[in-house]
Amino acid sequence: MLYRIARSAIFQLDAEKAHDLAIQNFSRFTGTPLDFFYRQHVPERPVEVMGITFKNPVGLAAGLDKNGECIDAFGAMGFGFIEVGTVTPRPQLGNDKPRLFRLIPAEGIINRFGFNNLGVDKLVENVKKSTYDGVIGINIGKNKDTPIEKGAEDYLICMEKVYQYAGYIAVNISSPNTPGLRSLQYGEALDDLLAQLKQKQIELAELHGKYVPLALKIAPDLDDDEIVQICESLIRHNIDGVIGTNTTLDRTLVEGMDHCDEMGGLSGRPLQNKSTDVIRKMAIALNGALPIIGVGGIDSAVSAREKIQAGAQLVQVYTGFIYHGPRLVKDIVNGL
Ligand SMILES: Cc1cc2nc3c(=O)[nH]c(=O)nc-3n(C[C@H](O)[C@H](O)[C@H](O)COP(=O)(O)O)c2cc1C
Repeated sequence: MLYRIARSAIFQLDAEKAHDLAIQNFSRFTGTPLDFFYRQHVPERPVEVMGITFKNPVGLAAGLDKNGECIDAFGAMGFGFIEVGTVTPRPQLGNDKPRLFRLIPAEGIINRFGFNNLGVDKLVENVKKSTYDGVIGINIGKNKDTPIEKGAEDYLICMEKVYQYAGYIAVNISSPNTPGLRSLQYGEALDDLLAQLKQKQIELAELHGKYVPLALKIAPDLDDDEIVQICESLIRHNIDGVIGTNTTLDRTLVEGMDHCDEMGGLSGRPLQNKSTDVIRKMAIALNGALPIIGVGGIDSAVSAREKIQAGAQLVQVYTGFIYHGPRLVKDIVNGL
């Protein structure tokens, strides 16, 4: 109810301004009496995935807290895990504004942020400051001006810097807003990247005496053969988990709506079934070899359960959280 009222005011603002304002206020309010707006008790429902214990299976998806500025606020809302980032080695501004659009009748969002972030060093500083006792995933990417053939170097730089501070590391090769990035999902390019990441993980595990799992985040816009090939590659390289899915380029379900033709990735309810299909196909191809984190259009306990029934062990939300607020976290945990 409280969130419904707040949302009608927030939705009067330009989408990115509303986002920035929320992030500023979350980081300012946490630990003060004003955090009663979003602090809530969510029951513990521990699950073990990738060798880590998550206090409940509902996480915040990457992109909402790109710089790790509000980890404690999201923790207070009851998330079982929080994925910060995508972060790149160097800070970058991202694409020109406007770059974030609400498709309200569909409960969808189109974004073409393009990895705007303050750089990996700032993110690590923020993660170190946080007092959240759940799992923090750190999602890493490449700078826009790093040529795609050298993309692996950016991932390795980020990996080295975040390794000690991450519960798991998510490797984002599926954003549609960095030119060429999605090409890393295929064939030799993928094998080569995963081989380098695995090698680095082995070295860092030895150096720090701690094993931090690696999860690959994939797009929903893949055909059946591509899904199978990615799964085979993940198994071949002993990757610890897969996150499916990122946003889609498909506009079929939003045709005719305001903003439907904006460039970028579509998320929220129009993505729900598409991402569940990808999860179902991955679950068959992986046959239990590694766990799946399901994300895409989750807006209720029912749609979260669909992801789990399709084969996911954990779920994440982003757009559903924007439309339904912190209550969604509690509803899903209770409903699972
Ligand atoms: C505004 C916005 C920014 C996003 N930024 C990132 C990002 O930086 N890295 C990433 O891996 N995913 C990013 N995503 C994708 C989400 O993490 C998620 O995979 C996708 O939106 C599907 O989930 P949803 O339907 O619950 O939003 C972003 C999504 C949105 C809506």
